[in-house]
Amino acid sequence: MTRLAISSPAFRNSGRIGVYLPNDGEMDPRPLLRRAWSMGKRCYLPVLDPLGSNRLWFVPYRAGDALRINRYGIPEPTHPARARVRAGALDLILAPLVAFDRHGHRLGMGGGYYDRSLAFLRHRRHWRRPRLYGLAFEFQRVKRLRAAAWDVALDGCFSEVRRHDFHHALSTREHA
Ligand SMILES: Nc1ncnc2c1ncn2[C@@H]1O[C@H](COP(=O)(O)OP(=O)(O)OP(=O)(O)O)[C@@H](O)[C@H]1O
Ligand SMILES: [Mg+2]
Repeated sequence: MTRLAISSPAFRNSGRIGVYLPNDGEMDPRPLLRRAWSMGKRCYLPVLDPLGSNRLWFVPYRAGDALRINRYGIPEPTHPARARVRAGALDLILAPLVAFDRHGHRLGMGGGYYDRSLAFLRHRRHWRRPRLYGLAFEFQRVKRLRAAAWDVALDGCFSEVRRHDFHHALSTREHA
């Protein structure tokens, strides 16, 4: 996955990249994170909104930064409020998922956090930024997922064996 991701145009063309720390058996992006640092990329981790908006903020993360456990048991970087940026400030977000399908529909953990944080992308055909790629194992690819009106589709997905590109993400979403 790491090799596939770092050689992709989406990754090479991105300076600011959102990743995550693995939870509950999700694909582990830490080897990719180390490569991204060595390539001079600025990497960010999602943090919960302290005001409870259920939208994610993203905080710069460098090797050795202090972490604390959030209410879902997921480590987040400790940070001052001014360090937070919204998803729209990033070039690429690599998101965990439970399942995905060939249209780029994504099933997450069910909180709608990525969907809410990226809701502004649903109406964009051009200049989609950030790009949204899933990190997943092939066994997480399913035949078909029913997409809800609020679901933000993936531009692609990196698995342990290949890159999936979902060119029709927006149109499938519109006709869902
Ligand atoms: N843009 C939005 N505005 C308001 N509510 C939203 C939005 N997006 C998602 N939700 C709410 O979040 C709930 C969970 O969404 P969904 O089942 O798509 O989660 P998910 O994509 O699996 O989760 P996650 O992105 O956190 O991994 C939905 O019931 C929906 O009401
Ligand atoms: Mg969703």
